[in-house]
Amino acid sequence: MFWEAPVTLPDHFLWGVSTSAFQIEGAFAAAGRQPSTWDAFPAFGGHDASVACDHYHRYREDVDLMRDLGVGAYRFSISWPRVLAGDLAFYDRLVDELLSAGIAPVATLYHWDTPQAVEDDGGWLDRDTAQRFASYAGAVAERLADRVAMWVPVNEPAMVTLLGYATGQHAPGKALLYDALPTAHHLNLGHGLAVQALRAAGARAVGTANNHTPAWPASEADADAADAYSDLHNWLYADPVLAGRYPDSLADRLPVRDGDLDVISAPLDFYGVNYYNPTRLRAPSEGNPLPFELVDIDEYPRTGFGWPVVPAGLTGMVSLLRDRFVDIPPVYVTESGCSYPHTLQDTDRIAYLEGHVDAALAAGVRGYFVWSLIDNFEWDSGYSQRFGLVHVDHETQERTPRASYHWYRERIAR
Ligand code: NOJ
Repeated sequence: MFWEAPVTLPDHFLWGVSTSAFQIEGAFAAAGRQPSTWDAFPAFGGHDASVACDHYHRYREDVDLMRDLGVGAYRFSISWPRVLAGDLAFYDRLVDELLSAGIAPVATLYHWDTPQAVEDDGGWLDRDTAQRFASYAGAVAERLADRVAMWVPVNEPAMVTLLGYATGQHAPGKALLYDALPTAHHLNLGHGLAVQALRAAGARAVGTANNHTPAWPASEADADAADAYSDLHNWLYADPVLAGRYPDSLADRLPVRDGDLDVISAPLDFYGVNYYNPTRLRAPSEGNPLPFELVDIDEYPRTGFGWPVVPAGLTGMVSLLRDRFVDIPPVYVTESGCSYPHTLQDTDRIAYLEGHVDAALAAGVRGYFVWSLIDNFEWDSGYSQRFGLVHVDHETQERTPRASYHWYRERIAR
């Protein structure tokens, strides 16, 4: 079947902000929502997301903040556990509210909140999960395809495999190391099948949002270690989607069936890059079962998370992608941002964003989405890492725009 990508992307540069359902919505029990793998997963300080930013009830206020900010697009995610319970009404309301504020809705279908019932059947280790995900994607698209501007089936599958199934730092907390690799293929297959379901329901632009990091060898002798890491973090997801193949170093360990790679590599309308920082690698020391070791990058300023601030890494990453995939569709930075402690005068965040917006423009991308609009539940770090342009008091739910919010508004207006 031949399918030509429709020219449906907004034709101007898109300034946006990103969030995800589990990190902001709260309202665990509303409208029969089913439990997710993250609901009871241990986080810093015993924090949980049962209230989070109470966005489920306060979305109008949050859309007002975006309208005043002047963004052209909002990337949010839809909660599979809510849709399982038949609750699509919340997203209907949210999308309509966005459209009446003149903001293009950019919907992610899976931002890590796997329904517990799906996990109990094997989660992403099980091939059927890809199919179940695609059915859910189709149901959402039937309802929202007429109004959603851009779709992202799976957010950062690399983090699901690496942190959720290989190291266990994230839900579902499995520490399978290399035995986690089948989840990568099933996530990619889920992406491909969801793209089909979205197209069938008449979705407009369909793309993806992959986390990418330039892999820096600590010395010339560490080049193989850097390549091995880059295969696991970058190419395991970009290669099948953009080139219909898997990296040689990993291909043998993936449960690929005939036809899978055709499904996964169907043409996309855009390619989303989530960029935070580069990663430095060296060859493993004796006894390390992995082909690499991570090394601190300490010659740059760092964020609250300790992540190095390297805007040039974003430009470099986008050129690397363009060199590797000559036919890459238009690129968007679907996430870029930083955590800093609890201050309203966040000059460090302004400096971060200035550098990264310039880097994105230098890379010739079509849009830039700040992670995140508001402080939210940062997974296993709970509320200890604050990424928001807007400060949230999680006791009172009061929202207070930070200096970076005002800076971004001026940058957009310019
Ligand atoms: C990427 C993830 O998509 C998002 O959920 C997370 O909060 C940010 N990285 C910051 O860690």
